[in-house]
Amino acid sequence: MIEFKNVSKKYGDNLAVEDVNFKVEEGEFFVIIGPSGCGKTTTLKMINRLIPLTTGYIYFKEKPVSDFPLYEMRWDIGYVLQQIALFPHMTIKENIAQVPEMKKWANKDINARVDELLEMVGLKPETYRNRIPSELSGGEKQRIGVIRALAADPPVILMDEPFSALDPISREKLQDDLLELQKKIKKTIVFVTHDIQEALKMGDRICMLNAGSVEQIGTPEEFLSEPENDFVKDFIGDIDGHLLKQSTAGDIVRDAPEIGVDTDVHLPEVCHDVDMHKLFKYFSEHDTLIIVDENKRKYLNRQDLFKYLSKDEGGGRQ
Ligand SMILES: Nc1ncnc2c1ncn2[C@@H]1O[C@H](COP(=O)(O)OP(=O)(O)OP(=O)(O)O)[C@@H](O)[C@H]1O
Ligand SMILES: [Mg+2]
Repeated sequence: MIEFKNVSKKYGDNLAVEDVNFKVEEGEFFVIIGPSGCGKTTTLKMINRLIPLTTGYIYFKEKPVSDFPLYEMRWDIGYVLQQIALFPHMTIKENIAQVPEMKKWANKDINARVDELLEMVGLKPETYRNRIPSELSGGEKQRIGVIRALAADPPVILMDEPFSALDPISREKLQDDLLELQKKIKKTIVFVTHDIQEALKMGDRICMLNAGSVEQIGTPEEFLSEPENDFVKDFIGDIDGHLLKQSTAGDIVRDAPEIGVDTDVHLPEVCHDVDMHKLFKYFSEHDTLIIVDENKRKYLNRQDLFKYLSKDEGGGRQ
């Protein structure tokens, strides 16, 4: 869907992005991560031509991005800016409805879509649709920025640190909502963050940048089990390597409630004593498993796994 071939970007003499190569598949959730100033926003903005590249090629649907008319890039690629830039004099509804309006959707379809999206992010349509952006909190504005990018149902969405201004609870809720949504609608998403836990939770694959260059590209499982160099190791430092080596599936679900014998019989059942390595293999194909210990059955999903492994949560040491 999106391919970078030897892409570099210079601002004057400063090489902001250096010889970057990657391919984002259709329906993939691709995360770009790295420290401040490493070139994440620049990389993202080159995809929809908000920033021109200096050398190399970027392909969208197998064609160079320069072949697409600019308006088509804006319509087919939803974009959530790092600095939320809502139009200050337009209402929330008008802000969200921008691309659907340009695409000449019928009014009743636009109204229904706006309300549906507001509800999705926990904002009551009747309270919020007619307000203007200055009447919203920072986190609420950020949520509007996210749903505005989804409004006209584009196949590709670029998101630049979309949840950074949210408190941990709203952040986790929006992350979960986006993962739920992604399961249903399978968009191609390129998502920028500097938060390794967010990257591990959200990404099908992660691309780690450092000073404009790629350090590693791989699945969350590969990042945890085979970090390619010290930079990557340092970055994922707050994931507990000891827990990764010592734990079994049974440890993670120790405090989880049991489920009935006949519940969700279609989900794969995994023995409680499998190690993390095997568990990652299962999670590369399934989002949720049932962990079985004699006659006890418990759910385990990907997010629980990463939460357990993160030092902040301290899942294994309580
Ligand atoms: N318009 C510009 N002119 C000159 N230099 C720029 C410009 N935009 C970005 N840069 C530089 O390019 C580098 C990469 O910037 P970029 O915004 O892509 O970083 P980032 O990874 O998104 O950082 P952050 O996490 O802080 O948002 C930085 O060194 C930045 O100072
Ligand atoms: Mg940035």
